[in-house]
Order: sequence, then structure tokens, then C-alpha cells
Amino acid sequence: MKVSVITLFPEFFGSPLQTGILGRAHSEGRVAVELVDLRRFGEGRHQITDDYPFGGGAGMVLKPGPVVAAIESVRAATPDCRVVLLTPQGRLFRQTVAQELAGVGLAGGLALVCGRYEGYDERIRAYCDDEVSIGDFVLMGGECAALAIVEAAARLVPGVLGDEASTREESLSDGLLEYPQYTRPREFRGAEVPEVLLGGNHAVIAAWRRTQSLLRTAHRRPELLQGVELTAAERRLLRETSAGEAGE
Ligand SMILES: C[S@@+](CC[C@H](N)C(=O)[O-])C[C@H]1O[C@@H](n2cnc3c(N)ncnc32)[C@H](O)[C@@H]1O
Repeated sequence: MKVSVITLFPEFFGSPLQTGILGRAHSEGRVAVELVDLRRFGEGRHQITDDYPFGGGAGMVLKPGPVVAAIESVRAATPDCRVVLLTPQGRLFRQTVAQELAGVGLAGGLALVCGRYEGYDERIRAYCDDEVSIGDFVLMGGECAALAIVEAAARLVPGVLGDEASTREESLSDGLLEYPQYTRPREFRGAEVPEVLLGGNHAVIAAWRRTQSLLRTAHRRPELLQGVELTAAERRLLRETSAGEAGE
């Protein structure tokens, strides 16, 4: 997967790109992250990248010239890449978007534009293909958002994680939250591991996990169930459970 990150703070990515699974994927070239220093495209002797907003108001705004020049330099080197503007005004990042962007990064390449200050001159938007927000909150800059996207997409790249089953079975990969997990010891301060997990019957364990995933999702994130295909028995289970909860 190829990702270019346009940022005023390339040093922000130093440690994450050298650490753990992402560090290994980066050094092996499975996830090639190119850091594009926006300052290089700044204007004048002082390499200015921001200016006061027309009309007044707090803070500074990223100038169109430097950001568009940085985007054009990435496009020149990677003509098929998708340029994604990171902004709290974008479409929400979620697991399905991580899957989509991993595919984009593997095909033509992905470019992530990190804003700072009060954001972008509006005319920059015309030079981007997509806008993504990592959640309904406001960060100080796009670097955290870029890192979250790179991490989430990188672990979907074949070969990055040792056991690919783990990305198939985890939370949100099938639209549901993951079932509860346990490891040793079998008993911790009086809390026992559910008996079903100790029996070695894989079909029974799989059925228990599916039920736990459904119940956990219904309880914590009921809106996610709308996108999930359920059997008649599963629909009945959820109806009975919610009727039980309503009666409590
Ligand atoms: C302080 S924010 C600017 C917010 C801007 N004034 C607005 O209301 O849209 C500075 C930069 O942080 C990044 N950022 C902040 N929150 C974000 C989010 N939820 N998702 C993605 N990027 C975000 C964007 O790149 C943004 O340009």
C-alpha cells in the first residue's frame, strides 16, 4: 500500500512508523508511507503556508498555493492516487472506509492532506477527491487522523498481520462488535471463563461467539444491526432479548 501524507509536521510520524507491526510493515515496504513536508511548498523567503482569514475571525487559514503545489507534486509522482482531505467536515471514517482506502492505497495510492490552524482555504477542496473525518470532534491537526487511517488500512493489507483470520473475525469486520475474548487463567478473582470455550467443540464455540456478538452489538451499538444480515432465529433472539430488557 502506498500512502503520501502532506503535513507541516513530518516528525509527528517518526515513532509510529518505526514501532510494532506498522514499523515492520513500513520497513518491509508493504506499507510505504511517504511524508511530504508542506513547508517545502511555502511561499517566499519564510516559506509561509498560512495567512489571516478574509472577513476576520480567530486563527490562521492554510493558503491554497502551498497545499495545492504539494498535492500536485504527489499527483505528478503517483498519477492515479486518491487525494483525501482530512477535515471534521468529511464523511465519517469507519471500518468499511478503512477497507475501501486500503484497496485504494494498494491500487493507485492514497494521499492524505493534514490541515492545521483553523483549516483550509475553501479553494483547496477542488483539488482533492475525497474528504474524511475520523469522528465528530475537532483535533488540532490532521496528523492524528492520518495516523489512524494509515493504521486501520495497513492492518488490512495482506501479509501485514500474521494471522489474517484476526481481521476477519474482529469487531466491525462483519458489521458486528466482536464477541468477548478470554485467556489464561481459567479463573480470575472468582470470574470464570465460560465453560463453552473450554470444550473444544468448534461449531458450538462459533455459535456461542455469533450469539455474543449479536447481543453485544444490540446492547452497545444497536444502529449497527441495520446493516447486518440476520437469520430468522437471530431476529427472534434479539426480539426476545429486547423484550426481556424492556420488562426488567
Ligand atoms: C482545528 S482543525 C480546523 C477545524 C475547522 N475550523 C472546521 O471547523 O472544520 C485543524 C485541522 O485538524 C484536522 N482535523 C480536526 N478534526 C478532525 C477530524 N475529526 N477528522 C479529520 N481531521 C480533523 C483537519 O485537517 C483540520 O483542518
